Amino acid sequence: MQNYSFFCYYSNNHYSFADLFFGQWTDCRLHMRIFKERKLLTQWLRGERSAGKTIGFVPTMGALHAGHLALVHRARRENDLGVCSIFVNPIQFDKADDLATYPRMPAKDLALLESAECDAVFCPDTEEMYPEKVQKKFDFGHLDKVMEGKHRKGHFNGVAIVVDKLFNIVTPHRAYFGEKDFQQLQIIRTMVKMEGHQTAVVGCPTVRESDGLAMSSRNARLTSEQRKEAPRIYKALLKAKQLFPAQSAEATQLQVISDINASPLLEVEYCEIVCPDTLLPIKQFRNGKVAVCCVAVYAGTVRLIDNLAINS
Ligand code: PAF
Repeated sequence: MQNYSFFCYYSNNHYSFADLFFGQWTDCRLHMRIFKERKLLTQWLRGERSAGKTIGFVPTMGALHAGHLALVHRARRENDLGVCSIFVNPIQFDKADDLATYPRMPAKDLALLESAECDAVFCPDTEEMYPEKVQKKFDFGHLDKVMEGKHRKGHFNGVAIVVDKLFNIVTPHRAYFGEKDFQQLQIIRTMVKMEGHQTAVVGCPTVRESDGLAMSSRNARLTSEQRKEAPRIYKALLKAKQLFPAQSAEATQLQVISDINASPLLEVEYCEIVCPDTLLPIKQFRNGKVAVCCVAVYAGTVRLIDNLAINS
């Protein structure tokens, strides 16, 4: 384990990060605050806000990569304070297996956040986030009936519930989300309007590996063979962008599916070309009308998603 230690605010005592996660103490103190209790985070933020500071927030489920860190850097640049949360939200998983195997690496995450100069991190446990049974049901109409929503029942309700709760706790001025989770971004924008949050939702460009694969916590679960094949996804999207002006959406989708499925290690779950605001299908290229091609692909049991605006 690296020799990192952080201030952790837990029932008014200071615990080191190492103590919390490994039952050991180290003695180097860095500047990031770690909160496990919402009450203490809220208290601290209230003080900062009344001193006139703005808060930029990055909600995550951990297993952080350069994509998350780009969000943290932007939150720090555009606000006085950068706050991040790490919480693997059980109610947004539709498969117990997927929840159980979701990568968890808290030591590395906290070290990365500290090096990104994140000011505070909220890492609650499930009881802290959900002291009572979750009942709330959002009605997103068409937005959660397609693509991810269609294939992962209840997923977006779970995402909306946790982000709504996190926004109530952190009350950020701005919150930062990656455009890789394109449909999630539309759902969160809609939830923010429904719930009257005063937070500006900022969508940030997908960060890619040098071979084009969109960064994702799930990439850590790919075998080396699957990892070699996975960049086909982005290549197929780039080809769709070239082809779309001259052919129908349907032909473009079929091309994307066949390019990706040409690898025996990859299998497309869906490929849709949609309007970014309504997520309604787009049938034909039209000058000036943005269309986004969205895909979900299985590499063994690992599910990868990606998207690209194909007529911008
Ligand atoms: O995108 C994610 O990592 C999660 O869906 C989010 C927004 C942190 C909610 O759990």
